[in-house]
Amino acid sequence: MNKKYRKPIIAGNWKMNMLASQTKDFADELKPLLPKTRGCESVVCAPYPLIPSLVKAVKGMRVAVGAQDVSVHDKGAYTGEVSAAMLKDLGVKYCIVGHSERRAYHGETDELVNAKTKALLAPEVEITPIICVGETLDQREKGITMEWIAMQVKCALNGLTDAEVRRCVIAYEPVWAIGTGKTATAEQAQEVCEFIRATVRKLYDAKTARALPVLYGGSMNAKNCAELLACPDIDGGLIGGASLKPADFSVIINAACGE
Ligand code: 13P
Repeated sequence: MNKKYRKPIIAGNWKMNMLASQTKDFADELKPLLPKTRGCESVVCAPYPLIPSLVKAVKGMRVAVGAQDVSVHDKGAYTGEVSAAMLKDLGVKYCIVGHSERRAYHGETDELVNAKTKALLAPEVEITPIICVGETLDQREKGITMEWIAMQVKCALNGLTDAEVRRCVIAYEPVWAIGTGKTATAEQAQEVCEFIRATVRKLYDAKTARALPVLYGGSMNAKNCAELLACPDIDGGLIGGASLKPADFSVIINAACGE
């Protein structure tokens, strides 16, 4: 982390877990474990139906609520879709886009990731996109990790102004590390997060690259978070399994806040 330029962000991704009826207990358990300072931003990205109760449950806590996906459309005949305006209206501040599970199981293309990012950045919405990128094990073994990541970053940011990029977060989530218990080493994670920043510097400028929070995700937990967060280009984490337990999640938040 480089706290001089970027505030650390710890974002939980609940994926398709938890129930609306469990959000209050989760918040009550997390509350006394949270740091007292404003040294980092904590977020919980919940499934759509849980959002209203989660917003209510974390009221008064330094925890923002995020979503896990958004429609590219503003409104209209798109059965099953949820618009950025609907999320904003509920109090959502962040939204994950292009998670590898959506790319793999729901045909989410780089073009869709770009369109969703733009839907979230629209001036009437202003939700922070957490754009996920990451290589598969096969791509890593073939030695094409950096080309792949550069392509994903370039496509996701296509057509955005530098001011818009400064409102984005990028999460590096190697597909092989997600839910596998197999974390990238701190060196591997730092190398790619640094490369993501360098890619943004090339596409935009040094100021934009310096301001961009780059998170690591993939089996980050209470035990390995400190080593990962100590890397200069890792500005926080996108946490799956460990975000479901307040005790574990709070250890990661406290590590990012420096407490
Ligand atoms: P795990 O932390 O469970 O590996 O999940 C990571 C992830 O996909 C977060 O978006």
